[in-house]
Amino acid sequence: MTPVLEAAGVRRVYRVPGTRPWRRRDLTALDDVDLALQPGRSLALVGESGAGKSTLLRILLALEVPDAGSVRFRGAPVSPERLRREVGVVVQDAGSSLDPRLQVRASLREPLECLDVDADHDARVLELMAAVGLDPETVDRRPGAFSGGQRQRIALARALIANPALLVVDEPFSAVDPATRARLVDLLRVLAERSGIQLLLVTHDLGVADRLCDDVVVLAHGRVAEAGPIAEVFARPRSAAAQDLLGAVGRLPTPEATR
Ligand SMILES: Nc1ncnc2c1ncn2[C@@H]1O[C@H](COP(=O)(O)OP(=O)(O)OP(=O)(O)O)[C@@H](O)[C@H]1O
Ligand SMILES: [Mg+2]
Repeated sequence: MTPVLEAAGVRRVYRVPGTRPWRRRDLTALDDVDLALQPGRSLALVGESGAGKSTLLRILLALEVPDAGSVRFRGAPVSPERLRREVGVVVQDAGSSLDPRLQVRASLREPLECLDVDADHDARVLELMAAVGLDPETVDRRPGAFSGGQRQRIALARALIANPALLVVDEPFSAVDPATRARLVDLLRVLAERSGIQLLLVTHDLGVADRLCDDVVVLAHGRVAEAGPIAEVFARPRSAAAQDLLGAVGRLPTPEATR
């Protein structure tokens, strides 16, 4: 079966400016990375901070061009135009990237207007507010009037409002407390199950990945350390990177314990 999204041999090198010319060096953020999001399966991209997860995501979404390798979306070269209708994106730290001047209503209507979605836009906005657990009465407030966790929910509602087939989420749970994180994870799982949306989730939390995804790609220092069905990687991690991440899961309190 043709993968929904597929990266092959992706390489990305950043020029790091130094204070002196001789201090300049190249930083290989990604090196020969392969990844495949299979139809009907959700994929977690995990790895420690700096592993290259967000960089790979930007390349997968055609927001950045790789120095080598290629990305295909449903079998053809990826482009922002091809993704626009089918993919909802929640960028890393999405809550703080909402336009502070826009009321939530306007923020959520925007994708519907841009994509010319044939629906009652205001009704859809209120439906999504309720779906992500926000009080529809607050729809005319600006982002500044919401907490960090609530802003994450607004970003999620915005990504979901035009009914994407694929939801790409970069570390949505880092800025929120464990209880809110557990609720957001449950919310994502329910939304994905109810509307059949596929997830491509970036996280450094293997526990969250395990609850939401079928497959996993473990990145370490810009390379794929391990990939496969998440249940297998969880049960028998082969790479040091996966073992380290699982060790971190063991040290964190479980969501149940924090309720
Ligand atoms: N625009 C850029 N210019 C220079 N270096 C960059 C740029 N973007 C990322 N990098 C570097 O590339 C490496 C990978 O960064 P990336 O943001 O992809 O990591 P990450 O896995 O998403 O980390 P985190 O979990 O902290 O979000 C890091 O060393 C980072 O400093
Ligand atoms: Mg990142």
